[in-house]
Amino acid sequence: MQYTQPATLPQPDDISATHSARVAAYLRERIETAGGSISFAEFMHEALYAPGLGYYSAGTTKFGGAGDFITAPEVSSIFGRVLARQCAEVLGSVKNGAVLEAGAGSGKLALDMLTAFESMDALPSSYNILEVSADLADRQQRHLQDKLPHLAGRIHWLSELPENFDGIIIANEVVDALPVERFIKRNSEVLQLRVAVGDDGFVWTEARAPEKLSGFVTEIEADLGHTLDDGYVSEASLAAPKWVADLARSLRHGAMFLFDYGVSRREYYAPDRTDGWLRCHYRHHAHNNPLIYPGIQDLTAWVDFSSLAASAVKSGLEILGYQTQSQFLLGGGLTIEMAGFSELPIADQLALSGQIKTLTLPGEMGENFKCIALGRGAISVPSAFQFADRTETL
Ligand SMILES: C[S@@+](CC[C@H](N)C(=O)[O-])C[C@H]1O[C@@H](n2cnc3c(N)ncnc32)[C@H](O)[C@@H]1O
Repeated sequence: MQYTQPATLPQPDDISATHSARVAAYLRERIETAGGSISFAEFMHEALYAPGLGYYSAGTTKFGGAGDFITAPEVSSIFGRVLARQCAEVLGSVKNGAVLEAGAGSGKLALDMLTAFESMDALPSSYNILEVSADLADRQQRHLQDKLPHLAGRIHWLSELPENFDGIIIANEVVDALPVERFIKRNSEVLQLRVAVGDDGFVWTEARAPEKLSGFVTEIEADLGHTLDDGYVSEASLAAPKWVADLARSLRHGAMFLFDYGVSRREYYAPDRTDGWLRCHYRHHAHNNPLIYPGIQDLTAWVDFSSLAASAVKSGLEILGYQTQSQFLLGGGLTIEMAGFSELPIADQLALSGQIKTLTLPGEMGENFKCIALGRGAISVPSAFQFADRTETL
């Protein structure tokens, strides 16, 4: 997701404001039932995924110009086409390999990838989507049925991870949407930041951290080789390493490509990063206050890629590589995809150049977004990661 720091946020229209008021009432009730406060992870989970209410579960437009943010597949089909090339390389050495996409958003990446696989004569045995939002799954279904009716029989929506999966697992900007804990260090102790109800809306409150969270922070400090300063605030994603372990358990033979904006653990918990990595997106404005606009703004946190890598290794996966999105695209076949560029009408050339700049330039999505590739069984390292690899920074 891309953002600009807003001077002021746009005001929600009446329909959005009414919806947000309903979500706020639901959250207040949860907080009261819980005795006056809930963890931020619970707040984030409910604000994003409460059935029929949460940001991803209710029916608003989130992706693209009319929504709140734009993701790489929504910027350009080039992203899905290059990713399909990299997947095809792996699928070549996996018998009967399928694709599993987690968190498919509008269905745009699935559309681009299936189209690219078909044009390379490399269609996987099936294309499976695991999506937590019933509303988005419904939109994906309609979109793909409309655009690729002849491939509809190969596309399946799953309600849980399959067992003994052979093939490729992909996820773009899903890890950043997993709920995170927030913590603060006080007098050398780890306190959990929780959400309570104040006079004018939701407010932060602090409590002794549960053992899981304080243990996680102790692990981070051990990795860093120093303790975090008093007053230091950050996030801890307990869900992300668990999610990777779940995916790893499902994968019998093949690879996974996880894309997100993120950094190594050392950068994530750098001494000067004293307020964490939460980002909220509303109508293409980014800001740092997750307690406003419940249910109508996206809540995300940058990803600690070292944590994903450690969980993968612990689960028996091999790290095939880690690199920036720009390196992935440049090493993964962008130039091949651009072969017919000079024959395109000038307006299309301009549009495509703009999309590629957005995907690859350091000030845009090129550097902040990373890709980690993980594998199990006999597969060769995808060519994008032979071009560049930063695994040693994790
Ligand atoms: C930021 S959107 C990204 C959508 C899409 N991948 C893209 O790049 O445009 C996050 C997506 O992940 C889904 N999601 C969140 N948690 C998930 C989980 N645990 N399993 C599967 N999907 C999940 C959301 O419903 C949503 O579709």
